[in-house]
Amino acid sequence: MKGIIFTEFLDLVEDKFGLEMVDTIINQSELKSGGIYTAVGTYEFGEMLQLISHLSNNTEISVDDLLLVYAEHLFQVLVKSYPQLVSHYKDPMSLLASIENHIHVEVQKIYPDAQLPTFELEERSDTKMVMVYRSERALYMLGKGLMLETFKLFDVPVNIDYEKLNPDGTEVRFFIEKEV
Ligand code: HEM
Repeated sequence: MKGIIFTEFLDLVEDKFGLEMVDTIINQSELKSGGIYTAVGTYEFGEMLQLISHLSNNTEISVDDLLLVYAEHLFQVLVKSYPQLVSHYKDPMSLLASIENHIHVEVQKIYPDAQLPTFELEERSDTKMVMVYRSERALYMLGKGLMLETFKLFDVPVNIDYEKLNPDGTEVRFFIEKEV
């Protein structure tokens, strides 16, 4: 997992819960990195899992809710860092439909070792989309949060539901519908 995901996560933890909480969750985790991350480095995904589950235990906020809040922050950072990847989209549906074939393809060129999910587009109309998320990291709640932020960016109201296609959440079908 890319370092930017860690550095932005720890920045947000510091912002919302204070530097002491950052120290606490780093100390509670067993981290090969020692808890020292650079944006361009690559670290084990297991480190992120430990950090976020310790944050969840210490704050009594579910991992799912933490991932949704984190998605809000991460999306702002990604759009600011890579404006050229989003600037030519005129609506949120086309942006989402293009993650697999454009946005994450470019991300993979920038970071050849990035581990990205896949999104398979099953249905698309003017108002509705069905997409299947697949990733062994099971970060579908982060995905849901990033989808919600995409619609917020264009100021379009949306309803997003999902169904897990397996118990561990490595395959999840999303139902994305514009609110009219
Ligand atoms: C992961 C970039 C938009 C879904 C990532 C990672 C980067 C990235 C750098 C980390 C890869 C790693 O750690 O190795 C971007 C950029 C975007 C963008 C630059 C556009 C500005 C989106 C959107 C979604 C999305 C809109 C939602 C559908 C995800 C998910 C992950 C991820 C769920 C976590 C990894 C996983 O689930 O396996 N993205 N992304 N991304 N991205 Fe994107």
